Amino acid sequence: MEIKTIGVIGAGQMGGGIAQVAAAGGFQVIINDVAKVLLDKGLTTIGKNLDRLVQKERITESAKKEALARIKGTLLLKEMAGADFIVEAVTEDERIKLAVFKELDEICRPGVLLASNTSSIPITRIASATKRPEIVIGMHFMNPVPVMRLVEIIKGLATSEGTFQVTKDLAIKMGKTPVEANDYPGFISNRILMPMINEAIFALYQGVGPAEAIDQVMKLGMNHPMGPLELADLIGLDTCLAIMNTLYEGFGDPKYFPCPLLKKYVDAGYAGKKTGRGFYSYGQRATFGSGEKQ
Ligand code: CAA
Repeated sequence: MEIKTIGVIGAGQMGGGIAQVAAAGGFQVIINDVAKVLLDKGLTTIGKNLDRLVQKERITESAKKEALARIKGTLLLKEMAGADFIVEAVTEDERIKLAVFKELDEICRPGVLLASNTSSIPITRIASATKRPEIVIGMHFMNPVPVMRLVEIIKGLATSEGTFQVTKDLAIKMGKTPVEANDYPGFISNRILMPMINEAIFALYQGVGPAEAIDQVMKLGMNHPMGPLELADLIGLDTCLAIMNTLYEGFGDPKYFPCPLLKKYVDAGYAGKKTGRGFYSYGQRATFGSGEKQ
């Protein structure tokens, strides 16, 4: 089946980014979210990102308009019946993802591949919510999607080689570099990244240093573009906690125990940059002991 229209479920920072790179790659896009305010926010962000690219003379004004015209927003999941390939990017909650896949399986035409942008939930488990496990796959983009080159591709136990090839080709057409990972909790990316972030949070929790010092050490000493705590704020502390829980439960190994401070911040609603507050404060209010960021 020729892929002309990509369906994206979720218009948050990942879904919006995926819709943007798909439209920029020449695909028609149908993007869905559950609330108008979320959908509108996602579409506005895509518009702003494309405006920035025009200002930097990376794309022309007409290319921007064409890309935007290829994106159609909808609140109705059933409109995914018009898509040739689906990328799900809803919140990192297994219950929600399984329910979405079950519904998509009923809505989408037979033969349409269902990909999940999950950052850690086993693809085999997600696929089992459908009657088409051989064409369910992990397609894990990195944040910010328009900038980061990697797409991690994960086959579930039943995923066919053909499904893998189609997904790999699609990632390349979207301007990304695919890398294959096996289906274990966290895959490759978050198996390595998230314990580092969790350890940085333990360092803050145990008073080894303030947030700024921990981030400076990793930026200046290890040449990381962002420190682990500011990166956690960018990813979302709720997502970081969900991934640590998946690693902890998936492997049953205490080395993946989520730091109590991470839990406390999430309980307080400090989910990072998207809520204006995480390990740093973004504009509105000051956090205790941590710095201000723009
Ligand atoms: N959307 C689109 N473009 C963005 C952007 C966004 N949210 N944020 C930054 N950019 C663009 C800027 O416009 C700029 O573009 P040009 O080079 O074309 O001018 C470029 O990115 C660099 O941005 P800045 O100069 O403003 O800032 P920077 O040099 O500090 O780079 C960064 C910002 C790209 C985010 C960089 O700090 C970085 O690479 N950080 C690490 C990000 C990372 O590790 N991501 C993976 C997270 S893990 C994940 O996503 C997986 C998971 O499952 C949790």
